[in-house]
Amino acid sequence: MPPAAQTDTGAESGTESMQDPAWWRQAAVYQIYPRSFADSDGDGIGDLRGVTSRVSYLTALGIDAVWLSPFYPSALADGGYDVDDYRDVDPRLGTLEDFDEMITALHGAGIKCIVDIVPNHTSNRHVWFQEALASPRGSAARDRYIFRDGTGPDGSSPPSDWDSVFGGPAWEQTQDGQWYLHLFAREQPDLNWDTREVRDDFLRTLRFWSDRGVDGFRVDVAHALTKDMAEPLPSKAELAPEGENAEGRHPFWDRDEVHEVFEEWRSVFNEYTPPRTAVAEAWVHADRRARYASPEGLGQAFNFDLLRADWDADQFRDIIAANLKEATGSGASSTWVFSNHDVVRHATRYGLPAMESGAGQDGSAWLISGGTESALDRDLGERRARAATQLMLALPGSAYLYQGEELGLHEVADIPDDARQDPTFFRNAGVDVGRDGCRVPLPWTAAGTSFGFGDGGAHLPQPAWFGEYAVQVQEEDPSSTLSFYRRALELRHQLQGEESLEWVQESSAEILHFSRPGRWRSITNFGRTPVELPEGPVLLSSSPLEDGRLPADTTVWLG
Ligand code: NOJ
Repeated sequence: MPPAAQTDTGAESGTESMQDPAWWRQAAVYQIYPRSFADSDGDGIGDLRGVTSRVSYLTALGIDAVWLSPFYPSALADGGYDVDDYRDVDPRLGTLEDFDEMITALHGAGIKCIVDIVPNHTSNRHVWFQEALASPRGSAARDRYIFRDGTGPDGSSPPSDWDSVFGGPAWEQTQDGQWYLHLFAREQPDLNWDTREVRDDFLRTLRFWSDRGVDGFRVDVAHALTKDMAEPLPSKAELAPEGENAEGRHPFWDRDEVHEVFEEWRSVFNEYTPPRTAVAEAWVHADRRARYASPEGLGQAFNFDLLRADWDADQFRDIIAANLKEATGSGASSTWVFSNHDVVRHATRYGLPAMESGAGQDGSAWLISGGTESALDRDLGERRARAATQLMLALPGSAYLYQGEELGLHEVADIPDDARQDPTFFRNAGVDVGRDGCRVPLPWTAAGTSFGFGDGGAHLPQPAWFGEYAVQVQEEDPSSTLSFYRRALELRHQLQGEESLEWVQESSAEILHFSRPGRWRSITNFGRTPVELPEGPVLLSSSPLEDGRLPADTTVWLG
């Protein structure tokens, strides 16, 4: 028999909105990269108490939920996505008690909390991996991971020629000569999801955090968990088309049986009231995304299509239409995102010439950065980013925001090599500078130690221009990007209704115009010249109107 439904113990748990099982469907979710958000103890690394200390900032911003990137014990070989222990807090970031206090403070402010769960791989310091290394070939301890003998006469060549997503080989040899699979960094050995013990342990982890009051989970690389490792392993050349076109035929991307795992997760989510939610990070073909987002599975899946689109009305229109249709089919709501901790910030992408940024290998959006600073038009980028965000906030579905985008922050391109942390930089020397540029600690004050991030330094160097973008500066300025985000989120809350959208035909293909029936209209000018606006009260404009007309690269909401 399933256990009885459990109820949160937080002080706010009786409030109606915190108990609404559909809260996630049109939530504005703010991603916190904890190490770079706010540092309460001056060690240069952001922490959970730092998050708690900024709950009033989150309230003023007007978001519905935060998503916390990993805060678990980790050697930070991949920014915390190399987890040593799934049921604890990294001592540099705090304690479980700090976590509980943070949840209570967030819930007290009516803000939900989603945590990142990393099921494809552990860290190489995880007790299971240490045990595997100390155990013989063929042991149960090794079977929790994917160990294979090498090829070649003495087994000194890897079992296959597969590449890791971060560059370099996907296999690492251990001291006794066997090899283990790591689709990401060598410090991230892939788990074997065919073992019941692995499956059960994650169910335990989901309950552990759910019992502590978390409202949902963001599921890292959800499409890679189950693998067909039958030998002989295919060569790189023989692999089914990469990632998004794999359609169930690839040995490790997007296999059909992964959904059996998520059905089990769903039954755990449904033990709680309200049910815990989940959103899949699944780089799969759009046609197959609905499986991850189904109500029997994780319930929602990221759609990175707008993030990868050019600043182009036709592309935006097609993507929005396709995703709304898909969401209707799956029973989920759409997700929209322009920035996260893996991609060049959207203010920068939109300020670079079109050829300077683009989707990375395997369809993931590890966009290139660095060396492009001279080509960057900062004002244009910020202007378009605001217009894009305002458009996104008018769409039905959940909007995912990334810390710092509300300040209009740009990517930090000039991080010295010896300060970089991202494994993609180390595994692709000279080709890809990696993702550190969007992970630089936030500027809270115009001056002072680490721009108010904390009393010590910042674990990634902050550029001098960060001061101009500081929260303190923008709070004083009604025309700042921060003031704009606050107003947009406030209006979205007031206006949000049914998850429906109606297109309004325009004579110019460069104008994207839709209404949320009976609520409000959103119009974006992707063209080069100002256009007349239809009748109606102007609620918000991402840049000032010009003589009552909608200028280029601007979104307006009409009542
Ligand atoms: C996706 C995460 O967003 C990224 O930051 C991480 O490096 C990989 N998964 C591996 O966990």
